[in-house]
Amino acid sequence: MSETKKPVYQPNREFAATARIKNMCEYETLREWACEDYEGFWESFAKEKITWMTPFNKVMDERNFPFVKWFEGGKLNVSVQCIDRHLDKRKNKAAIIFEGDRGDKQTITYMELYNHVNRFANMLKHDFEVTKGDRVIIYMPMIPEAAYAMLACARLGAIHSIVFGGFSAEALRDRIDDAQAKVVITADGAYRKNKPYMLKPVVDKALEGASPVEKVCVIERNGEEITWVKGRDLAYSELIEKHSAVCEPEVMESEDPLFLLYTSGSTGKPKGVQHNSAGYILWAQMTMEWVFDVKENDTYWCTADVGWITGHTYIVYGPLAMGATTVMFEGVPTYPDAGRPWKMVQEYRINQFYTAPTAIRVLHKMGEDAPNQYDLSSLKVLGTVGEPIDPPAWQWYYEAVGNSRCAIVDTYWQTETGGHIVSPLPGATPIKPGCATFPLPGIMAEILDPNTGKKVGNGESGYMCVSRPWPAMIRGIWGDEERFKQSYFGDVTKEGKPVYFTGDGAMYDEDGYITITGRTDDVINVSGHRMGTAEVEAAINKHEGVAEVAVVGKPHDLKGEGIFAYIVMKEADSIGEEVALAQEINAIIKQEIGNIALCDDMVFVSGLPKTRSGKIMRRILRAIAKGEAITQDTSTLEDPSVVDKIHAALNA
Ligand code: PRX
Repeated sequence: MSETKKPVYQPNREFAATARIKNMCEYETLREWACEDYEGFWESFAKEKITWMTPFNKVMDERNFPFVKWFEGGKLNVSVQCIDRHLDKRKNKAAIIFEGDRGDKQTITYMELYNHVNRFANMLKHDFEVTKGDRVIIYMPMIPEAAYAMLACARLGAIHSIVFGGFSAEALRDRIDDAQAKVVITADGAYRKNKPYMLKPVVDKALEGASPVEKVCVIERNGEEITWVKGRDLAYSELIEKHSAVCEPEVMESEDPLFLLYTSGSTGKPKGVQHNSAGYILWAQMTMEWVFDVKENDTYWCTADVGWITGHTYIVYGPLAMGATTVMFEGVPTYPDAGRPWKMVQEYRINQFYTAPTAIRVLHKMGEDAPNQYDLSSLKVLGTVGEPIDPPAWQWYYEAVGNSRCAIVDTYWQTETGGHIVSPLPGATPIKPGCATFPLPGIMAEILDPNTGKKVGNGESGYMCVSRPWPAMIRGIWGDEERFKQSYFGDVTKEGKPVYFTGDGAMYDEDGYITITGRTDDVINVSGHRMGTAEVEAAINKHEGVAEVAVVGKPHDLKGEGIFAYIVMKEADSIGEEVALAQEINAIIKQEIGNIALCDDMVFVSGLPKTRSGKIMRRILRAIAKGEAITQDTSTLEDPSVVDKIHAALNA
């Protein structure tokens, strides 16, 4: 299928009739409004959507670009936006429907959520001495208490930073230290595929030696034995009941930080992406309403983990801000079989289902006919996120899961964008497989030519940028203003002014549809998880025998991209020891980062292709990993023979 000849699927009329944005005319009207009166557009939505304690008096202030301020003077509390304000109308409505790995179920109404979050906040305040501005690490499984913890932090004005439960003790320690966190909230562990797994021992290891963490809150989920450090570790179950279910929300400024979330860049350690209160919650709610078109009685399910931005915005903050019912799932979608998600769709009458292409590929491979065995007629919108979706996966999702009647929303965004920035609108946008389609109203996303700073034409490629700051834009990298400026505003300008650059390449097709073509930097996307090649290289370099390493991404059938490492050992002669070395190196990666960064391929080579100035030519390494012919000129290499030697090592 060529990029420009993709079939077009027209919106389902049944959904279109009641969609919030019903057709492309309405979409254009909103877009034009934002183009003509940018501040007026945002002012209007901010007034309509947010329950302000004190109204704002200035829409935006970009004088200190890229340090932009939105809705100054406004005061709010995000937990009030997500809970308190719904109690009048929705106190008995399900806020969270939880399903555990082993099939245990729990429904939490908005009233119950209020009680849990207020108690949690009081506990953090009195037993953990958490106050406004403190950083709190959340290292938790996918259980409702993870959402309570987030919202309790928001209620107190504490800044949470969730670390995905698959990260190792070292990775957790790095994030704790960088954020200078005072408290860690964790669980003993949880369940995966009907077996317990552990988190608390990882926290114990991360806190060995000097640490800014004073106390650890432990939620008991799997009941397995753990060690308790006296004076540091406190059991949630022993504390929570004694606290009152009323905790006055802290009055927060629009620009007070809400959370940090660490993500990978092309160089160095992961960066603490900072999102602030009002702008983030506004866009989380608006995109939730527009892109998923969730109605009052709908049930919505996003399969992400709260450890990633998708879990923040589209499991917790977005759905709760709009008063929706959000499903939280502890398990893995293929256990006990690949029919699990479809069984859940049938059982809960799920209306919107949101997952990653990796999951779709695995479910397709392991259970092609599984969707046929369940009643999926409740589904209206099917979302994808995190990586490009390939045509076979798209087709199966559309036909087998969606019965050729659901809208597929291929949502393009990033940790830094807070919420979707390019996405179809269900019921309005005619969709093409693998296309994120058009920028959402209010988001000045465009593909620019990095050399000319001009928008590229249809049929052309360039850099995916956003040329005006928007409310949910990243506010900073924790503790590193310079890195913030350089990482996002250093590469592309438009009419002489720096613009936000996503790090992704993209192209317009003949109809102006946007297709994301992938990262232009050294970030790779493994199963929808963002991974910096520099981080993996730093881990591999910790092996004492390694002299040099270069890591690249390689297309992978299920994961999208796999990790391919070229390794030069100090002792030239490692022949015959490759298998043992590879195991040792993967063990170090597991320890330094976690299982998600294990290498799929390692090849031991005698040298890396470098320019005469010593720069590694990664393009050559990417081509070799893909099995492609080398098209670039290798004569400029310091030692052109390394390319043949690498080929020989690969074929050995
Ligand atoms: O390369 C893009 C890819 O995922 C990156 C963002 O990763 P992260 O910050 O971890 O957030 C993932 C969830 C939003 C982007 O720079 N990406 C995200 N969505 C898509 C995508 N690539 C193609 N199509 C998408 N829909």
